[in-house]
Amino acid sequence: MDAMSADADSRPTDHQTAPPAAPSPVRAVVPGSFDPITRGHLDIIVRAASIFSEVIVAVGQNTTKNYLFDSDERLDLVTSAVAGVAGVRVERMRGLLTDFCAAHGVAVIVKGVRFGSDFDYELQMSQLNHALSGIETMLLPAGHEYGTISSTMLREVAHNGGDISPFVTPEVNAAVLAKLG
Ligand code: PNS
Repeated sequence: MDAMSADADSRPTDHQTAPPAAPSPVRAVVPGSFDPITRGHLDIIVRAASIFSEVIVAVGQNTTKNYLFDSDERLDLVTSAVAGVAGVRVERMRGLLTDFCAAHGVAVIVKGVRFGSDFDYELQMSQLNHALSGIETMLLPAGHEYGTISSTMLREVAHNGGDISPFVTPEVNAAVLAKLG
């Protein structure tokens, strides 16, 4: 028998080839303050939903921040922004993110990173969350068109009469204009 026919003999026939195992469903969380939600946040949420079977967007509180929108308003704006994105739902988050993950069966935290200072901050948070509960964090690089957007900067632009409509949904733009009157 020559080398080629020996190879052919060792190949599995169709009935011996096992079907690929179905990937197990994995629920992920995209947490944030979302004050307000931007197109950069939405990009991360949509990309997370293309990777994981289910994504919960957790609208939380960072106790070191002052918010323009209260938690009900932020929740409503996030809910309207993600309406129609398959596999995504929105929840309010109180207390620790790791407790939220345990209570909701979340296996992975997904965060977006735009630049080095984001990375330094997210690295610290991911290591702390891992130390608290063993949960893993996946960092997604921000889409190149969203690298300079932050809620903080958009609030500053809007406060000073600038147009933030390219960076947020029409509902968010209207809510910001109404809030700043
Ligand atoms: O959009 P933000 O402000 O970066 O979101 C921060 C948020 C809300 C995700 C973070 O502050 C958080 O996880 N808060 C819940 C409380 C908590 O678990 N803090 C410890 C994180 S190391």
